[in-house]
Amino acid sequence: MKILMIVVIMAMFQEAEPFINRLGLQKIVSNLDKQLPIEVFKGKVNESDVVLIVNGKDKRFGVDNVGTQPATLSTYLAINNFNPDLLMNAGTAGGFHAKGADIGDVYIGSDFIRFHDRRIPIPGFKEYGVGSYKVPDFDQFATDLGLKKGIISTGNSLDIIPKDLEMIKANEAVIKDMEAAAIAWVAELYNIPLITLKSITDLVDSKKPTQDEFMKNLSLASENLQKKLIAAINFCAGKTINEIIDRA
Ligand code: ADE
Repeated sequence: MKILMIVVIMAMFQEAEPFINRLGLQKIVSNLDKQLPIEVFKGKVNESDVVLIVNGKDKRFGVDNVGTQPATLSTYLAINNFNPDLLMNAGTAGGFHAKGADIGDVYIGSDFIRFHDRRIPIPGFKEYGVGSYKVPDFDQFATDLGLKKGIISTGNSLDIIPKDLEMIKANEAVIKDMEAAAIAWVAELYNIPLITLKSITDLVDSKKPTQDEFMKNLSLASENLQKKLIAAINFCAGKTINEIIDRA
């Protein structure tokens, strides 16, 4: 089956803006759910429809709806409304310099996507907490697009505490974000393939405050993200999933 409907989920408008502009996506009146601030944009790449979902602003705090709950809601609604052949999650993330990450690098999530802040030390629940959602083998795809590969670990905090670091290390993660595992959970429930692209704004293992680095590098990272995201969409549009996964 050809990929004719691609849904991209992004948390922050600033992350999405260069992508919206470059692809000329049009904002549509959303019929997802009137109670939710989710924004929907539409466009076309080759023969494929592209729908972008941005989580919108929190009604009380006026800031972007980052983190796992909005990501879960958006993904569920996107699947129900647009029936995607392929889901993409694109956004910014922290990276581990010791594992090869630099500011502005764009990664594709590989191997597994895991949670690092759902600690439930009871047999069975421990593994459920970590999630470990399997990622198909996108090696050739990553090489063709010049993407770095790494395990993503998701949690609901931008900064880090020692316990999170311990878990992220146990997760063998190179990338720390706030949405991917939540989206991967919904994608797995509905058996829809998911590609995650993460552009690095800050280095988790540097001494600089994460929030300062994040704000400083957000526009560079979003610009780099846009280029790889458009290349990824061009690569996938009109192909079958089997042509993208493990083509070697
Ligand atoms: N998004 C950008 N940088 C991040 C970090 N260090 N942790 C989680 N999400 C991020």
